[in-house]
Amino acid sequence: MDHVTTGPSLLDELPPPLPAEQIIALNQPRADLRSERRHEWNGWVFDVPPGVFLPGGTSRMIHDRLLDGRIPVAGRRYAAMGVGLGVEAVAAAHAGAAEIYAVDVHPESVAAARRHHARLAAQTTGRFVPVVADLFDGFPDGVELDVVTFNPPAVSQTVSADPDVVRNVCVGAPLLARFFRQLVERDLLAPDGEVFLVASNTADLRTIIRHALDAGLTPAVEHVHDWQDGVLTYLFRIRPGARA
Ligand SMILES: C[S@@+](CC[C@H](N)C(=O)[O-])C[C@H]1O[C@@H](n2cnc3c(N)ncnc32)[C@H](O)[C@@H]1O
Repeated sequence: MDHVTTGPSLLDELPPPLPAEQIIALNQPRADLRSERRHEWNGWVFDVPPGVFLPGGTSRMIHDRLLDGRIPVAGRRYAAMGVGLGVEAVAAAHAGAAEIYAVDVHPESVAAARRHHARLAAQTTGRFVPVVADLFDGFPDGVELDVVTFNPPAVSQTVSADPDVVRNVCVGAPLLARFFRQLVERDLLAPDGEVFLVASNTADLRTIIRHALDAGLTPAVEHVHDWQDGVLTYLFRIRPGARA
């Protein structure tokens, strides 16, 4: 289902968070986060070091769209916020991005992204820039971005006391408030720039989108995926400028 709703009326359309116990049950951390794992996508194999997020179906909503151009990065300056394993960086390189900023607060994730980009996208020409940063706090000055993607740890319930699980899954809406503020205050988006943000009703979608509106951004729903288990995942396209 694709539709275009934007501005404050979008808030009324968004579902409230699922009941807390359902969110916690749906997001039970896997026991193998501390071990080496393996991820395969588009015929590419990625080794997943300990602590690095193993991409799932929500991640693929962004990965597939980067590769096939529904998230258009060809010739553009692109930042993968919370890049994790680095699949976004590899996909964007193959889609012809001019610059790829692979950003994560977790140094081992940025190292994994750098390694995977070097191994799987060596023949591409876009400039790859690894950045260890807390959101854009630590991002190079003077860079303007055309596209940003973010699959944030937006789950609204604390599903584990393990800091690596929290970092990957459940920091919650305040992280997005800071993300939107930094984008606007640092003037990071080009005038025709766009942010693709993915989050589900295991997060507080209304609060997240209210944060985007409060920062002066214009969010719209790009796509909704119904996983048939109560979870609805929204892909938002967020543009600079006043609300519609
Ligand atoms: C849900 S995972 C997504 C990983 C990858 N983009 C994907 O879709 O497979 C969230 C990522 O955000 C990163 N992250 C969490 N807090 C962050 C922060 N303050 N600044 C930058 N990255 C952060 C985590 O380390 C993790 O890699």
